[in-house]
Amino acid sequence: IESELNLTWAGASKRITETPRPAESNKGKFGHVLVVGGSYGKSGAPAMASLAALRTGAGLVTAAVAQPILDSVVRITPELMTIPLRAGSKGEISSSNLDDETLKELLDKKTVLAIGPGLGQSAETEAFLLGLLEKTDLPAVLDADALNILAKHPGKINGRNRLRVLTPHPGEMARLAGISTGEVQANREALAREFSMKNHVTLVLKGWRTLIAHPDGSIAINTTGNPGMAKGGSGDILTGIIAAMLAQYPHLAGEAVNAAVYLHGLAADFAVWEHDEHTLLATDTVAHLSTAFRFRS
Ligand code: APR
Ligand code: MG
Repeated sequence: IESELNLTWAGASKRITETPRPAESNKGKFGHVLVVGGSYGKSGAPAMASLAALRTGAGLVTAAVAQPILDSVVRITPELMTIPLRAGSKGEISSSNLDDETLKELLDKKTVLAIGPGLGQSAETEAFLLGLLEKTDLPAVLDADALNILAKHPGKINGRNRLRVLTPHPGEMARLAGISTGEVQANREALAREFSMKNHVTLVLKGWRTLIAHPDGSIAINTTGNPGMAKGGSGDILTGIIAAMLAQYPHLAGEAVNAAVYLHGLAADFAVWEHDEHTLLATDTVAHLSTAFRFRS
């Protein structure tokens, strides 16, 4: 298979960008993202993923986080809706949230799940994550600690006929594949393709020149992004952007993921031009998404 694509705006998302929002539209047409994550000390992660999802155009975004961190998450973004969950001792989501009533509230009317930022890896959270994934067929973006947990349960990674997007950085990829980070980096393309096809998932292997491997064997190589992004929070923003693109373009899922990765890097490239590689914050990238969306080449 030699279908490699160096991502450009047109290549990533021609059909997407040529489709403006219909004038007669409403929020119900642009999907409803459920962001699940957070724990004590990591409430910013789901907050940033949620902010990015709203800024990218999702119709509605709901963050489901443990009750003790809920206020600090919503304070970042008043547009956000929230669902308070029962907490473990680390302010993480406990397994007591798997009752039918809570699951119903969590999943009701949602169209995309984004899970993992700041989630933690306690036994309680592990049980919650695995239980939730059993109960839903929603398209899902799995990031950060969701990946670290799944690495311990390789049998649960497989997307089968569900859409699953995994967004590991090289360290998380190493855990998923059971090899060293050095081995990941030495063999990024072949590894991403093999993992994606074997597990029926879309694999976004992050870092300089992020790779997007699709389960049909095709691979896209991102051309945007800069070292200013090598800073906490950048990955959480990407998770929100991918989820929001899937929420808006569910019929173009593969392109939506490519476009999301491209836009994330392009926004950061505009942001670094105004700031500097040293001073760039992940949230500055969110602020420059507008410029990235407007840019056509
Ligand atoms: N060039 C281009 N892009 C880069 C570069 C670079 N030199 N460095 C980083 N990036 C991009 C990556 O491609 C990715 O999109 O920035 C993002 C970094 O994502 P993560 O590695 O997930 O970083 P982070 O946001 O800090 O993750 C938050 O989740 O993955 C866990 O352990 C991690 O606690 C951390 C948390
Ligand atoms: Mg990360």
